[in-house]
Amino acid sequence: MIEHQTTPGWVAVENFLSEVVVRPDRGLQRAVTAAVDAGLPAIEVAPNAGKLLKLLVQLSGARRVLEIGTLAGFSTIWMAQGLPDDGRLVTCEYLPKHAAVARTNIDDAGLGHKVDIRVGAAVDTLDALEKESGPPFDFVFIDADKENDPQYLEWAIRLGRPGTTIVMDNAVWEGAVLDTSMDPENAPGIVSALQMMGEDPRLDGTVIQTVGSKGWDGFALALVR
Ligand code: SAH
Ligand code: DHB
Ligand code: MG
Repeated sequence: MIEHQTTPGWVAVENFLSEVVVRPDRGLQRAVTAAVDAGLPAIEVAPNAGKLLKLLVQLSGARRVLEIGTLAGFSTIWMAQGLPDDGRLVTCEYLPKHAAVARTNIDDAGLGHKVDIRVGAAVDTLDALEKESGPPFDFVFIDADKENDPQYLEWAIRLGRPGTTIVMDNAVWEGAVLDTSMDPENAPGIVSALQMMGEDPRLDGTVIQTVGSKGWDGFALALVR
């Protein structure tokens, strides 16, 4: 993980915005506490980004959401809150311990009936989902191992449809997208995924840079044409 160079002002403003505008409910607050208590890394999306995910799910009218990278289920809960009661969210998590913490958090938030957690390498789960040939996903959130970001983007198109919304976290990675030697393991995958968003005729995309408790990063947004 890259060292964060945060300016205290960014974090103070994020806290202000979270309290005044975003207002995460008890279920979301408990999910963060439970993740800390279980010793999971504090790499979930910031509350203002989580709320953006919820609103984007609602704005896109999504009924089926795919998430790649569950951790403790914080972003999962935000997106599930944006789904109608009969909506479904499939989330992919490699580590059984993370999946177990997420299961408890999502159930405690009253959203268990909407969320299917699939444990294993995401590429295997994505392959299995294609074989299940269910309806396409309307919304995809990519937030797992960054080296596979281009593959996940390809899967999002394959399991989606024209009009599917794709959000990819960590699109700036403390500026390592300009100097991949800052993180040779993860940065090249992020850069390839961004190039794909720009060049692939099946996609139309943009990236919003962000600062706050998670440092300097970015949220990529793409629409499947
Ligand atoms: N979306 C979460 C944060 C995810 S952190 C939130 O905002 O709340 C990234 C997660 O991806 C970690 O839990 C990590 O274990 C998982 N992960 C890493 N590599 C993976 C892989 N190949 N397949 C599935 N999950 C993976
Ligand atoms: C890391 C992963 C993330 O998805 C994130 O938002 C921040 C950090 C990490 O693996 O270090
Ligand atoms: Mg992330």
